[in-house]
Amino acid sequence: TRPLLIAPSILSADFARLGEEVRAIDAAGGDWIHIDVMDGHFVPNITMGPDIVKAIRPHSAKPFDVHLMIAPVDPYLEAFAKAGADIISIHAEAGPHLHRSLQSIRKLGKKAGIVLNPGTHETAIEPVLDDLDLILLMTVNPGFGGQAFIPSVCDKLRRIKAMVGDRDIDIEIDGGVTPETAPLVAQAGANVLVAGSAVFRGGPAAYAQNIAAIRNAA
Ligand code: DX5
Ligand code: ZN
Repeated sequence: TRPLLIAPSILSADFARLGEEVRAIDAAGGDWIHIDVMDGHFVPNITMGPDIVKAIRPHSAKPFDVHLMIAPVDPYLEAFAKAGADIISIHAEAGPHLHRSLQSIRKLGKKAGIVLNPGTHETAIEPVLDDLDLILLMTVNPGFGGQAFIPSVCDKLRRIKAMVGDRDIDIEIDGGVTPETAPLVAQAGANVLVAGSAVFRGGPAAYAQNIAAIRNAA
């Protein structure tokens, strides 16, 4: 069984102090740094680009887990790779060339992930199962932090866990993860939990205890 990892999402960080925030969640025990990239087109919000990833890269040696909510995505893969991403995940809904995009990410020497919105069926993944390092299932509709967990995704998670079998693929959950919802997704087969608002609430003094609460609950 794969170790359970917590990936705090800096979408809920104080953007005016982003470097310090990244250092704080690293020190507080976050396993990966989850970076939400939004373009105001694929999703109804705008966040950060490759220059921000590059600027925060020196603040942590932990894996940068870059979640791209942008369309088109192909023209930007190289920029995120060069900026310091370790894992680059693209949405199945964001373009017609899923296989090409995944191949490009691996050619750049990075781990390739695919993301499914709550309303997207897992059949989208089946043809590319051997071209993936990570599957990210959204348990909210992408665009904003602090939304409520959609429990029906747990059935899809179980089916994906079975589909993945013994392949070397991480299964990650993103959206509405709290100490209350973490055990549901851990039991259904997820091994990486993204959490934004549940990690950053209470300010830096609370980060370690917030991360530990999710980890212990899962
Ligand atoms: C939503 C983002 C998430 C978000 C999660 O579009 O992909 O990573 O930051 O935030 P919480 O944990 O607050 O739901
Ligand atoms: Zn995300």
